[in-house]
Amino acid sequence: MPRIKSKHKLVIIADDEKGIRDSVAMILRGEGYDVLEAADGSEALQLVRRYHPDLLLLDVKMPRKSGPAVLDEITKKGLGPVVVVISAVGSVSIAVKVVKAGAYDFLEKPLSKDKLLITVENALKNAAMKVENLRLREELGGDEEFVGDSKMMRELRQAIAVVARTESRVLIFGESGTGKELVAKIIYTNSPRSERVFIKVNCAAIPSELIESELFGYEKGAFTGAERRKPGRFELADGGTLFLDEIGDLHLDAQAKLLRVLQEGEIEPVGAVRSTKIDVRVIAATNKRLEDEIAKGGFREDLYYRLRVVPIECPPLRKRVEDVEGLLEHFSRDYCRRNQLPEVRFAESARKALCQYHWPGNVRELKNLVERLVIFKAGGLIGRSDLPVEFLVKQEGERSGASLSTVKGKVEADYIMQVLADTKWNVSKTAEMLGIDRTNLHKKIKKYGLKRLKNSEV
Ligand SMILES: Nc1ncnc2c1ncn2[C@@H]1O[C@H](COP(=O)(O)OP(=O)(O)OP(=O)(O)O)[C@@H](O)[C@H]1O
Ligand SMILES: [Mg+2]
Repeated sequence: MPRIKSKHKLVIIADDEKGIRDSVAMILRGEGYDVLEAADGSEALQLVRRYHPDLLLLDVKMPRKSGPAVLDEITKKGLGPVVVVISAVGSVSIAVKVVKAGAYDFLEKPLSKDKLLITVENALKNAAMKVENLRLREELGGDEEFVGDSKMMRELRQAIAVVARTESRVLIFGESGTGKELVAKIIYTNSPRSERVFIKVNCAAIPSELIESELFGYEKGAFTGAERRKPGRFELADGGTLFLDEIGDLHLDAQAKLLRVLQEGEIEPVGAVRSTKIDVRVIAATNKRLEDEIAKGGFREDLYYRLRVVPIECPPLRKRVEDVEGLLEHFSRDYCRRNQLPEVRFAESARKALCQYHWPGNVRELKNLVERLVIFKAGGLIGRSDLPVEFLVKQEGERSGASLSTVKGKVEADYIMQVLADTKWNVSKTAEMLGIDRTNLHKKIKKYGLKRLKNSEV
């Protein structure tokens, strides 16, 4: 699809008065938007189809196709751009109807520069949120089940149900891969704010020098390169929920700013003269022990207490081995269904070995393991010997009962598989890397039943 190659937002102005088109285009271009002009309704539709603009400014009365007719086609066909209607004085009642029909807002002529810019910015912000919400809803998809029937999980579920109904801040903690992010999303989807936005910020993934402007935004001209005002994640989350993931990685300067925002309920974008009220529910998560970080001086105690109004712990999998079987079933069923693979079954011996394992990577590790097993064993029965070598050796120095040759074979097969994956199944290259000849490698591939499957990343 042709799309103007630019990182700037594309706006189409559709109006039959050239004077209006020219001045709108000039104002918007001055603010860094890309602008295309349409002199009538059908030209507007053509341009929308061709260029997929972010926003359409649409006059009501136009030759060849009126504004409402254009809007009708756009909403019917799900063409996408957010629409702002421009109405002449006196046709406000039409404009109101058009807004009901799906336009975001309307502007009355004569247009004022400030009003135009604010409306355009809000419309685009709103559109971005809608897209994000849709994506999230798809991601949450309702089919992301929260599995586990152990006592700990039942208690966790109960706590989630209670806290979801409130507006309280929540701090979710627990080891890596225990389901903290999933819990945050479940709290959100069951909260009074579920119809509003859910914005996620991974505090560990954003460089410390950028995190403040990312969270709180900046004003135009706040520093060199700040050509336009940028709303922060707090502002984007206004009215909704903000998930601050890996909060333990937030550096101290940003912590001080965050504390102020939580205390005052106001944000102050970099370079701003005034602060703005915001209404955001904050859910935070961390796999660090924040008490230790506080003791080391890496985390502010006052911020800690502001965040952990309701603390929620995701317990490690090894403390609730009763959940392993349920998770196995869940992930294998889910993965097979999504990839249209026949389901696998787990032999008793395999289940036992999986329950004895200490799961340092928790649920995520189990999920990844199941995906790998399903790919290699589609439709089959997974026995103990199909598991990676770490499952064959019991913990705490006990003998596992597996013969040395089985363990050696497992290690060899796993390693060959890894190199094959790295070379994308280039047999000559793999043989060379392993220091054996190709015939020998072929024999081993056959012996261990190694297979390459389409769509597989393993
Ligand atoms: N109880 C559960 N039921 C179903 N799926 C789960 C459960 N717990 C975790 N998962 C899944 O396991 C994976 C890891 O979970 P998640 O990303 O929420 O962990 P996390 O605690 O945020 O990890 P990290 O600290 O590494 O960010 C996800 O795919 C998640 O959907
Ligand atoms: Mg996480």
